[in-house]
Amino acid sequence: MQTDTLPATDPHAIGRAATLLRAGCLVAFPTETVYGLGANALDADAVARIFAAKGRPATNPVIVHVADRIHAKKLVADWPDSATHLADRFWPGPLTLVLPKAPCVPDIVTAGGPTVALRIPAHPVALALLRSCGVPIAAPSANRSTELSPTTAEHVQRSLSDRIDLILDGGPTSGGLESTVLDVTTNPPTLLRPGLVTIAEIEAIVGSIQRAGSVGDDAPARSPGQMARHYSPRTPLTIATTSRRHIETLTADGARIGWLTHRDEGEVPGVSRVLLPADPVSYSARLYAALHHIDSLGLERIIVEAPPDDDAWLAVRDRLHRAAEA
Ligand code: TXA
Ligand code: MG
Repeated sequence: MQTDTLPATDPHAIGRAATLLRAGCLVAFPTETVYGLGANALDADAVARIFAAKGRPATNPVIVHVADRIHAKKLVADWPDSATHLADRFWPGPLTLVLPKAPCVPDIVTAGGPTVALRIPAHPVALALLRSCGVPIAAPSANRSTELSPTTAEHVQRSLSDRIDLILDGGPTSGGLESTVLDVTTNPPTLLRPGLVTIAEIEAIVGSIQRAGSVGDDAPARSPGQMARHYSPRTPLTIATTSRRHIETLTADGARIGWLTHRDEGEVPGVSRVLLPADPVSYSARLYAALHHIDSLGLERIIVEAPPDDDAWLAVRDRLHRAAEA
């Protein structure tokens, strides 16, 4: 059985979703990054349902979404100045701040840890839902654990159909990659997961930050639960410096290949090519949708043109390395 999908524009959609959330049910909703799988963050049983629906390990804490800073401060034991400056600049938006948790936050939300991850999403549907339900919403990405993150309601339906109570359809998300996760309990703050807000944008506000390391970089530690193999399509994926010639060679023996590239060298006959924009922001916005599409074609292999080395592409490189075969 499929889960009900309601267009977010339906006049009853937000009210119905809010009622379900307050009753301990699971509602998928759009944010500006990816779709989230939401539950009342103050209801431990409801949050446990998120972990069950996703098949998510209990060791991986979830992000709590709030409507405004007043709600954010109720969930933390301390609010450093750096949080004020970062929230002034980036909230609502794709920056998640890790802060010392208040006692009211259930342990299951933080995987038993002393910190809680918070953000105010910059999406009108997410904000309307938060205001309407009046409780903070715990929401990881609305996909089964280890699968690709969803950027459309249809992606959510395919991954979680019949495991959740409602999907609010707000159309494709605009950002396309998950939020940046920044731990502000350390001094200087520590980047736990690269995302749509870049290191340069953060450092312009708080000065130099530390990097906990992401796949494709050298440093070891990262966000708890950030397993290297994550965000994976079913089709084996390889990152390579590609050329038309190289792709032609690979297909010479009839192999069915998908080619994801941001450099336009023309189509190769018999190859499913997806051409993405060559700037990191537009590329990010379309990456998951492109991967979902190529993955649905039942090909033998996906070859992805290696993205540039600079920090503007850090989040893209991180997600691609996780999607690639170990
Ligand atoms: O853009 C996003 O962040 C989306 C939308 C729905 O908001 N959410 C999302 O959630 O990507 P999820 O669960 O797929 O990723 C949450 C990340 C994980 O890497 C998790 O380890 C980290 O945030 N995280 C959550 N709470 C944390 C905490 N207390 N300390 C450190 N990392 C934390
Ligand atoms: Mg996720």
